[in-house]
Amino acid sequence: MIEKHIPVLLNEVIETLEIKPDGIYVDLTLGRAGHSQEILKRLDKGKLICFDKDIEAIKESNEKLAKINSNYILIKSDFRFVSEELNKIGVNKVDGFLADLGVSSPQLDDAKRGFSYSQNTELDMRMDLDNPLNAKDIINSYSEDQIARILYENADVKLAKLIAKAIVANRPINTSFELNELLKNILPAKVVREKNPSKAVFQALRIAVNDELNSLNDLLSQVAPLLNKNGKLAIITFHSKEDAIVKNYFQKLNYHDPKLNKLPVQVDKQWKQKIIFPQEEEAKENRRARSAKLRVITKLY
Ligand SMILES: C[S@@+](CC[C@H](N)C(=O)[O-])C[C@H]1O[C@@H](n2cnc3c(N)ncnc32)[C@H](O)[C@@H]1O
Repeated sequence: MIEKHIPVLLNEVIETLEIKPDGIYVDLTLGRAGHSQEILKRLDKGKLICFDKDIEAIKESNEKLAKINSNYILIKSDFRFVSEELNKIGVNKVDGFLADLGVSSPQLDDAKRGFSYSQNTELDMRMDLDNPLNAKDIINSYSEDQIARILYENADVKLAKLIAKAIVANRPINTSFELNELLKNILPAKVVREKNPSKAVFQALRIAVNDELNSLNDLLSQVAPLLNKNGKLAIITFHSKEDAIVKNYFQKLNYHDPKLNKLPVQVDKQWKQKIIFPQEEEAKENRRARSAKLRVITKLY
């Protein structure tokens, strides 16, 4: 099924970013510019800088953004290089960062990108087509222990050890349907009936291929000093692993502000945080929104 990409929590993101027409905003996950278009419409002298490591996202979004105005810059890069990339274009302070994590609907729907367990495709799952590692490499060359760890640590996959063992014993496994079939054959019928096991297994592999959790940690280690006074960092997460990283980071900022030289004291006047969930209506209309959480932190000094 081809799904149109509907930006998640769009109104909430725009409202919380409190966009200033002359501000500098960074969309760290451009996708199909769902959020970026709305940000760009609100800028006159300001600038929008967009990151995506998927060249297709950059190309397609460029066409959309060019129709609005020219106050934007597109950067094809992993957001883990945010400081370095902003530095290259002479930007050292930002009024708002947005990250809408994970894969986009066009990536999931395009069979040749190999993300989906519901289409029969070669296992690939790379957001960045220049990435030398794909899902097939992991499945067919990693050790049983490495695969078990990927499944368990990235997506709490049940029976991760059993699955890893079966994967190694049944190599080569090259397509999504081969992997689905294997899972169905080796897992207890009750487990398969309760929840399609492919969902978590594919998610765990995708996170590993794109090094998603390390990228997020790298990003968070850089953004606080880049924010202006009243600058905002807004992050939409879709699963517990990435949400835990963001939540811990926000908590650490409150206790451990860079200005305070690593003293473990509460500094609640320095940062203000809030968490926003999709309205019932949005969750009904957009499947992707159901697991979304928007965490926003504002730098108050
Ligand atoms: C959920 S989509 C964003 C959708 C976008 N907000 C919209 O409404 O159109 C996530 C996008 O971020 C990109 N992405 C994910 N992780 C990234 C990373 N570490 N660095 C750069 N781009 C990343 C993906 O390639 C994908 O295009």
